[in-house]
Amino acid sequence: MADQLMKGAVADITAAVGKTPIVRLNHVAEEVKSEIYVKVEYLNPAGSMKDRVAMNIIRDAEERGMLRPGGTIIEATSGNTGAGLAMVAAIRGYKCVFVMPDKMSQEKIDGLRAYGAKVVICPTAVEPSDPRSYYSVSRRIVEETPGAFYANQYHNPANPEAHYVNTAPEIWEQTGGDFDVFVAGMGTGGTISGCGRYFKERNPDVQLIGVDPIGSLYYEYVKTGRLTKAFSYYVEGIGEDFLPSTMNLSLLDDVVQVDDRECFLMTRDLVRREGIFCGGSCGAAVMGAIKYARTLKEPKKILVLLPDSAQKYLSKIFNDEWMRSNGFLDVDETSGTVAHILKQKPGQVITAELSSTVRDGIKLLKKHGISQLPVLDDHQRHCGIVSELDLLNFLLQNEGQLDQPLKELITSDYATVSPHTRIQLLKSIFNDAKVVLVVENDRLLGLLTKIDLIDYLASEQAAAK
Ligand SMILES: Cc1ncc(COP(=O)(O)O)c(C=O)c1O
Repeated sequence: MADQLMKGAVADITAAVGKTPIVRLNHVAEEVKSEIYVKVEYLNPAGSMKDRVAMNIIRDAEERGMLRPGGTIIEATSGNTGAGLAMVAAIRGYKCVFVMPDKMSQEKIDGLRAYGAKVVICPTAVEPSDPRSYYSVSRRIVEETPGAFYANQYHNPANPEAHYVNTAPEIWEQTGGDFDVFVAGMGTGGTISGCGRYFKERNPDVQLIGVDPIGSLYYEYVKTGRLTKAFSYYVEGIGEDFLPSTMNLSLLDDVVQVDDRECFLMTRDLVRREGIFCGGSCGAAVMGAIKYARTLKEPKKILVLLPDSAQKYLSKIFNDEWMRSNGFLDVDETSGTVAHILKQKPGQVITAELSSTVRDGIKLLKKHGISQLPVLDDHQRHCGIVSELDLLNFLLQNEGQLDQPLKELITSDYATVSPHTRIQLLKSIFNDAKVVLVVENDRLLGLLTKIDLIDYLASEQAAAK
């Protein structure tokens, strides 16, 4: 092959990673005064911002001698990191094995196989520690494959570093730092942690806002420091059921919660009204940015990173039948949300304070005939719940300790939703959670148990007769 490249050409496709445009949103965010701009990452050659991560992980592994010629790259991936790794592997002659959870779109699986990669599918509905989980299966394959390199995007510092050395400087150069807020969905945390660190170093006033789907544990962890039980949701690529070491939540200024339905409707709007052919986590990020913008007193310039393309979700988000059968389309807006259940459940939610004692807690449960007690801090934000079972266990083990602080009994055995969460989703949340706290703008609006949902559904059905 000639040494000299033809004029206007690059040596291989990886040279086309990056230099993606930043575009103003002109229609979908009309309701807020802030200007919202999006960094369109599906224009990377393997289709997402993870191309940058894949290149950095492989460079780093080669430099450390962890990946050698003819080696096999193994990863637990929801698709995009796999596509990036598979693209680089195709050029450099590595083999690839990807382990994916079964909720991923067929398009993502087919895309990886198109690059020549092997794909192994694992069940979503198992704990990360379960031997069938995609984390466990990928570890086993690594142990059994000679010349294996585990890319390990959840714990590989080369992931956030990719955004620190590549994505963020590119954004800074493009914008000259002329933005007030950076918004990104949170999966491994590579994007928000890598970009966030770079932006905060350049300008500590830049606000970093993470977006988290209802069902993931990040939101509650940021707000209360508690690791609550995660439950399943449909949007792909964001939210976690454990804390990856690539995530640095301490950088965040705030986190915004979004639900599947609003993510998907916004994704469809971004394609139909802005012509931006982006995927589900992009709708989530923009919806998160709009929700954040609604809380601002002064308009700001908000930059949102859009990770990937609509191409991978054509059979789901862009398929009306799939949307309808999952309750995301043609929904009667006037009924069927958590707010409607709360309306049927008059009276204020009974809470305890951080300074309450075990004796106070028992008194409250007895007086109001309730079984759980959310505990509020000095700013009236909830910090977990105490249940009658927690009190019972405490009393059995600690005789005569009624003046002990109640806060030591607080547990994380609950899920958090917003008043806009649909009843359909609430039903599936109750498969995993005993108690649901309804929270909006850091305010606790209510507490729901299964009987509240049963009560609501029964009265709806009686009214329909
Ligand atoms: C579609 C999509 N959106 C968002 C993210 C989240 O990015 P990060 O892992 O950098 O937090 C990912 C990560 O896999 C993704 O695939």
